[in-house]
Amino acid sequence: MKESNNTVVFTGAGMDTESNIPDFRGKDGWWRKIDPKSVATIDSFHSNYEVFREFYSTRLKLLKNVKPHKGHYILADFEKRGIIKSIATQNVSGLHSSAGNQKLYELHGNINVIKCENCNAKGTLKDFLDGKSCSVCKKEELRPAVVLFGEQLPKDAWDLAYDSIKQSELLLVIGTSLEVYPVNQLPKLSKGKVVLINNEDLGLDSDFDMKIIGKAKAVLEQLDSLI
Ligand code: OAD
Repeated sequence: MKESNNTVVFTGAGMDTESNIPDFRGKDGWWRKIDPKSVATIDSFHSNYEVFREFYSTRLKLLKNVKPHKGHYILADFEKRGIIKSIATQNVSGLHSSAGNQKLYELHGNINVIKCENCNAKGTLKDFLDGKSCSVCKKEELRPAVVLFGEQLPKDAWDLAYDSIKQSELLLVIGTSLEVYPVNQLPKLSKGKVVLINNEDLGLDSDFDMKIIGKAKAVLEQLDSLI
C-alpha cells in the first residue's frame, strides 16, 4: 500500500456485517433463510409485490439505526490522505458515503433511494414503508433503487468502477463471496496486485496475489496502524 500509486477498494456485504447488517451467503446471511428468486428478482417485483415490499421494508428498517464502523471510517480517511483512490461496492447500505468516501461507485444501487418502477419519479421512504402508491402516476410500483437479479447495472457506476479497477496498481477486495456476475469479474481486470480480505478463504487462489483471512474491521485497523 505504501508503494502503490493507485490503490482501489472493492467491497461486498462482509464489509457491513460488523455494523450489524447481515450479508447474503455468510452463516447468518439472507440467502440462507430466503430464496433470492422470491424477493430479489425483477420477476418477484412484478409477480409478488407484497412479498418483495416486505423483504425490502425489513432491510430498510434494520438500516435505521445502523452506523459505519471503524473500518468504514479508515477507508474514508485513506481516501482523504490519497492512500486509496476510490471504492467500488456491491453494497446498497450507503455506509461508505456516510463514513465520508466521495469517490464511490455503487454497482448495485442504493436501498435508501426510492423510485417508481412505472414512471421513475422519486418516492419517499415513508410511502414505500407504508405501502402507498407512487404520488405521481398513482401506480403501486414504489421500490428501492437497487439492482435486482435480471436487471442491468447502472452504467455510470459500472464504467467508472471498470476503469478504476483496470488502472489499479493494488486492488483490495473486502468481504465478498464473488458469487455474483458481472461484478465478480471486476477483480480480474486489475493489472496490479489483488489482495483478498475476507473472513473465509474463497479458494480462487489464482485470482489473488495475497489473502488475508480475518474480519474487515480488525484487518483495516491493523493496516491503518502499519501505514
Ligand atoms: P456475500 O454474502 O455473498 O459474501 C460476503 C462475504 O463476506 C462472505 O464470504 C462472508 O464470509 C464474508 N464476511 C462476512 N462478514 C465479514 C467480515 N466481518 N469481514 C470479512 N469478511 C466477512 O455478499 P456479496 O459478495 O456482497 O446482490 O454478495 C453479492 C451480491 O449478492 C449482493 O450485492 C446482492 C446479493 O445477492 C443482489 O441482491 C443483486
